[in-house]
Amino acid sequence: MTESKSVMSDGAFREQLQERRDRIDSASSQARKSFPVNDFARRLHPVRQYMKIGKVTELEPGTKCFRFVPDPARGTDQCAPFLAGQYLDVYITINGMTVSRPYSISSSPKEAEEGFYELTIKYVDDGLVSKYVLDNWKEGDEVELSGPEGSFFYSPLRDARTVVCLAGGSGITPFLSLAQAIVDGYEDFQMILLYGSRSEDHILYKDKFDELEKASDKIKVVHVLSDEEKAGYEHGFITADLIRKYAPSSEYSVFVCGPQQMYRFVDKEIEKLGLQQKFVRHELFGEIHGPAGMEDYPGTDMPEVKITVSIRDTRKTVTGSVNDSVMQTLEKNGISVPASCRSGECGLCRSQLVSGEVYVPKAVDGRRLADLKFGGIHPCVTFPLSDLEIIVPYAK
Ligand code: FES
Repeated sequence: MTESKSVMSDGAFREQLQERRDRIDSASSQARKSFPVNDFARRLHPVRQYMKIGKVTELEPGTKCFRFVPDPARGTDQCAPFLAGQYLDVYITINGMTVSRPYSISSSPKEAEEGFYELTIKYVDDGLVSKYVLDNWKEGDEVELSGPEGSFFYSPLRDARTVVCLAGGSGITPFLSLAQAIVDGYEDFQMILLYGSRSEDHILYKDKFDELEKASDKIKVVHVLSDEEKAGYEHGFITADLIRKYAPSSEYSVFVCGPQQMYRFVDKEIEKLGLQQKFVRHELFGEIHGPAGMEDYPGTDMPEVKITVSIRDTRKTVTGSVNDSVMQTLEKNGISVPASCRSGECGLCRSQLVSGEVYVPKAVDGRRLADLKFGGIHPCVTFPLSDLEIIVPYAK
């Protein structure tokens, strides 16, 4: 191995030294309030983005697409850039308590540069936030979003050149962004999308995907209808056989995004493909609606539990259902816990279990060894099996 060194002449060194002395002498004695590099980082990764709703489109009953544009009057003059597949947290205040929910960005990175994001939000049963948003949000409303977050994006270093994307229902949204990014030249991989819907009428963004498929030979879209048999569509569910039918014989990654029931079914089918674990990625954001039905759920005889929570110098005992996560119970009782992904991935809600027994579904158990040993839990994916006592490090 050779080593090259650049040697500065004595004259050049003295010149540089003098220049530095001059800059120090002329510098203000006042401490700087901000640094350009920090300002730049804040613009790229803002904690909050203050936006206005520019447009609302109803895609089908119970599903709307919201367009957000920056609100310079409240300090946001651009959309922070993102990687197709990432999500934004939506913050809303209901009955005096601020809660957040993550939603995948359905618009493209190019459209963010042009000045807007879109989120497609579907009403979910018992969905506190989705119901509020669908019933109340209208054009012109002020909203508060997080910066782009999440790791459900394509990485050429980690993923295969071909990605088989499995989507169900409104889980199509990150794939819409990814497909658009391929057409715009922002991403470069082969996408084979298997999209499960109940019937043709329930397919979201059908025309848009037809257009994208026509625009790029890197995109192949297969619609799978569970309740309807129709020419031009696959019928049934997304099975290992169906994936094999469309997947290449060479190496490929699998990305999955859809409702909870879909994961339970599709994960077993993916196992049959014998892929290495690193080639299978799930978008985990979103809540688990009840542990019953989870393969490894041990169950409990207690219909209700008491959860005693300490936050800073306050301590409170609330009652909740064993079918709600610890976070859901706390929120239903007016106690807000810091949260982003709500799926055990980001670690923002990490708390301390002091006593009691809990269940954490294996698929979303993001605890580290130290957490297992010393009682660290993520309340967003932790279900009580007995009365509990926990410590939440801080609350908003
Ligand atoms: S909110 Fe992300 S781990 Fe709980």
